[in-house]
Amino acid sequence: MSFIELSGVGKTYAAREVLRNVNLSIEEGEFVSIVGTSGSGKTTLLKIASGLISGSEGEVRIGGQPVEGFARGAAIVFQNYSLLPWLSAAANVELAVESAFPEWPKQRVAEQAQRYLGLVGLGAAGAKRPSQLSGGMRQRVAIARAFAVEPSVLFLDEPFGALDALTRATLQGELIKLCEAQQPRATVLMITNSVDEAVLLSDRILALGRGPAASLSSAFPVKLPKPRSTDLMLHDEEAVRVRVQVTEFLTENARAGNKIKAPRRESIVPVEA
Ligand SMILES: Nc1ncnc2c1ncn2[C@@H]1O[C@H](COP(=O)(O)OP(=O)(O)O)[C@@H](O)[C@H]1O
Ligand SMILES: [Mg+2]
Repeated sequence: MSFIELSGVGKTYAAREVLRNVNLSIEEGEFVSIVGTSGSGKTTLLKIASGLISGSEGEVRIGGQPVEGFARGAAIVFQNYSLLPWLSAAANVELAVESAFPEWPKQRVAEQAQRYLGLVGLGAAGAKRPSQLSGGMRQRVAIARAFAVEPSVLFLDEPFGALDALTRATLQGELIKLCEAQQPRATVLMITNSVDEAVLLSDRILALGRGPAASLSSAFPVKLPKPRSTDLMLHDEEAVRVRVQVTEFLTENARAGNKIKAPRRESIVPVEA
């Protein structure tokens, strides 16, 4: 059994079936991305995987245990900062550290928060409120907060989707460094609208079909050593091939207007030599 297992997951809101028969297995320490068009149910899928909401059908297990309520040992980053506006950047991170490590004395909590703010280049901005920070800086705080709880599982919902291209590239680099530095490495499930971003960061990429009743595609493995650089991704043959495969898949799926036929079990798309 894999570390994270979604089996037969479905979700219906009122009369609208958003997800149908979603199956996904993620190994411990693996970085998996899901790409898909907007409105296809990506956020719904991430919320079900993390236990924030429950599916209408199917089951989610993390570490063999059924997920009930927000998964223990997990952290989540949304697109829109989700910082508490009345607290400083440092206090936002401290609050999360305190609830993850309730036995830690205040001093240690503060040091942990400061350390992670430093790792995302905000060592000097801890006293600032979210309203005093740029969008990129706020999202850095959200990422520092997620890593500061030393999560075993990290859920990312289009974490850089609201940022300009340059800031986005910088934050991708910081995410790579944080992931590399973490011991043991967190298992990551990321939603992104950028195929390039998925290729840069992931071990495997899956596409969520067009809704309603969307299902996941087979997996596209990214067989490139990590950490990867944006420059390399532009020219590397394997990177280009995966990017083309995923993009073609999404385009076909949108053009055909039909749903992805859900594989019975998650399978790997053969990559031609
Ligand atoms: N709480 C909710 N109640 C009713 N419908 C919802 C709710 N959340 C999402 N939806 C609908 O489900 C579909 C998928 O939404 P979402 O998961 O946010 O998609 P994505 O993240 O891919 O853009 C959309 O049509 C959206 O309007
Ligand atoms: Mg979404």
